[in-house]
Amino acid sequence: MSTRATTTPSGVAPAALHGVHVTGWGTYLPSDVLTNHDLAQLVDTSDEWIRSRTGIRERRVAAAHETTASMAAIAAARAIAVAGLDPDEIDLILLATLTPDHWMPATAVLVKEAIGNTRAAAMDVMAACSGFIYGYATAHAYIASGMAKHVLIIGAEALTRFLDYTDRDTCVLFGDGAGAVILSAADAPGGTLSVELTTEPEGAYDIWIPSGGSMSPPSAETVARGEHYMRMEGRETYRFATRTLASTALAAVSKTGLRPKDIDLFIPHQANMRIIETVAKALELPMDRMFVNLDRLGNTSAASVPIALAEAVDSGRIQVGDRIVLLAFGAGFTSGAVTLEWTADPASGVRASTVRPEDIVVRKPAGWHPVAPIPAA
Ligand code: ACO
Repeated sequence: MSTRATTTPSGVAPAALHGVHVTGWGTYLPSDVLTNHDLAQLVDTSDEWIRSRTGIRERRVAAAHETTASMAAIAAARAIAVAGLDPDEIDLILLATLTPDHWMPATAVLVKEAIGNTRAAAMDVMAACSGFIYGYATAHAYIASGMAKHVLIIGAEALTRFLDYTDRDTCVLFGDGAGAVILSAADAPGGTLSVELTTEPEGAYDIWIPSGGSMSPPSAETVARGEHYMRMEGRETYRFATRTLASTALAAVSKTGLRPKDIDLFIPHQANMRIIETVAKALELPMDRMFVNLDRLGNTSAASVPIALAEAVDSGRIQVGDRIVLLAFGAGFTSGAVTLEWTADPASGVRASTVRPEDIVVRKPAGWHPVAPIPAA
């Protein structure tokens, strides 16, 4: 019996999905770059191995004063500026992350304060690398049901703080950053066409952080064993990703009555170039239908799809009327896909430059000290 569980927003027929549009987008990327050559000073690896097995050349690393909330807040403020909204017009803030600033409160709360919103409900979404798509689905449901008009969805990660820099299987893959999108209700054709989410619990321990939760509370012993770092069965995760990404994309596209060849651009989770190539092959599409930026940014988990979407729009890869699929997989195992018809003016993206990082301030607790970034070679 398959344990694959497929979820469609319950009771919402595809025809009722019209009227939920992307109106804003924004990113924040830390300026520090960690190249494959830098990593080869830390662990037994090489630029050649990382490039040929993953496609990654370099990734960004959050600076000592930066956190998931600070990166999220800048990307959020940029998305709000692109949408031409006042921060207080946002009804709901959803922050997808597996690297929150704290276990409690939700990191979305800190972002709400930093962007100057006084009205919105704010919460975090936990679905690992699929988190942004799960957040998008939640935002969609709020808007389609009339409970919200404008929802801010952010994917943000400071993954380099949860990596073991003695474990070459994981530390070469991930990077830091944030991407944000505004979803708005609008009485116009286009916008979100379908949503598909899957959860396959048999992969729960294939990519995970063993300690720090209630099953294994943090202690000197768990820290000494490095159980607060990410662990991964790379081959199992690879097998899951190649199988599920194509089937989840196909399910989302089929719900709209379209076929994969009708989609102008796929924005897949940026985990591994070989995974993206396998998806293109399974969908019988050329690689130019797949947006790729993992060579510069590595895997930024929940931030990967919104960063890629914003970069695709701002680089002229998306025009009004284009059909787009947002697509992700992650720990759990989870996966998700959204089909949408793009309706926003790509030229609005220039407004993001009006937001200066130094003007967005996340409140820190008394006595907080900046975090030492990754270990020195
Ligand atoms: N540098 C050099 N050699 C390495 C490295 C490295 N960084 N990492 C592993 N190797 C070695 C292995 O030890 C192994 O050596 P051996 O043959 O002597 O045993 C050899 O390279 C091959 O290892 P494989 O694991 O078979 O390599 P593979 O081709 O499968 O690539 C990879 C590994 C890149 C991790 C791949 O399995 C993968 O991309 N998996 C999916 C990972 C992923 O997408 N994770 C994100 C999940 S999303 C989320 O929710 C966070």
